[in-house]
Amino acid sequence: MKQAGIASWSGKRVWVIGASSGIGEACSTSLLAAGAKVALSARRIERLTKLASTAQINQTLVLPVDVTHREQLESAYQHILENWGALDLLLFVSGLYVPLRADQFEMDIAEQTIDANLLGPMRAVAIVLPEMLQNHAGHIAIVGSVAGYSGLPKALAYGPSKAGIINFCETLYYDLLPQGISVHMISPGFVATEATAQNDFEMPALITAEQAAKEIIVGIQNGEFDIHFPKRFSRFLKFLRILPYPLYFWFVRRFVQI
Ligand SMILES: NC(=O)c1ccc[n+]([C@@H]2O[C@H](COP(=O)([O-])OP(=O)(O)OC[C@H]3O[C@@H](n4cnc5c(N)ncnc54)[C@H](OP(=O)(O)O)[C@@H]3O)[C@@H](O)[C@H]2O)c1
Repeated sequence: MKQAGIASWSGKRVWVIGASSGIGEACSTSLLAAGAKVALSARRIERLTKLASTAQINQTLVLPVDVTHREQLESAYQHILENWGALDLLLFVSGLYVPLRADQFEMDIAEQTIDANLLGPMRAVAIVLPEMLQNHAGHIAIVGSVAGYSGLPKALAYGPSKAGIINFCETLYYDLLPQGISVHMISPGFVATEATAQNDFEMPALITAEQAAKEIIVGIQNGEFDIHFPKRFSRFLKFLRILPYPLYFWFVRRFVQI
């Protein structure tokens, strides 16, 4: 059994959470250009409004939310239902990255990271699932990261939050495939955005947010579960994680010098 893709974006109702910058903004721009209706969510309303001003009238909804507040997500979703009747795709892109090593491990940052990156997507999924299950239709796409594949330096809170996303998507896929709902797990490598601008090392296989958006949109169109890119980097990390631990840690210490 293969899950459904999206053959045409024209008129499709998409909720992009994390639309105010980076990968989410690039996805929203591409989806709007392809004729989808896009509900734009994140905290920075001025960015969302600016993006909406580039679209056609009635093509967007501007719904500011903080993903750590369940009631804000709930009211945004109600707004979507009232205006559009249903949702075809939840595209959860929003995320928080604060570099963290063991010698400056801060519990506040860990809690914020798990709250935004793991509990945030869980909240959004819990909200959209009842209608999707009722209709036996819909798509759930969540941006995780290749940093969730296995432990990497400077990712003491970010890595576990993204590892959780992988497990969450895998488990969702089991349950939702027989229900006619597609799940898309998205694992980017390095993408040039505000989040990575803070990195003080040379990022291997760095791509633009527009390239990332293209990979994501084509992957969803094709009904792919495991959307990972750029392949030259993500395949290498997939290979590393199947190595025995001594070899894995040797590789990481030898080649990831950050
Ligand atoms: N860039 C990379 O190399 C890379 C690699 C792998 C995975 N990723 C993942 O890709 C996703 C997008 O990241 P990006 O690189 O495009 O970074 P970005 O430009 O910093 O975008 C992050 C987005 O998340 C939103 N956001 C953060 N916290 C939020 C909150 N509490 N509530 C609502 N929205 C929130 C931000 O909007 P507001 O600030 O306006 O709320 C913004 O729209 C993240 O999940 C990230 O982990 C990125």
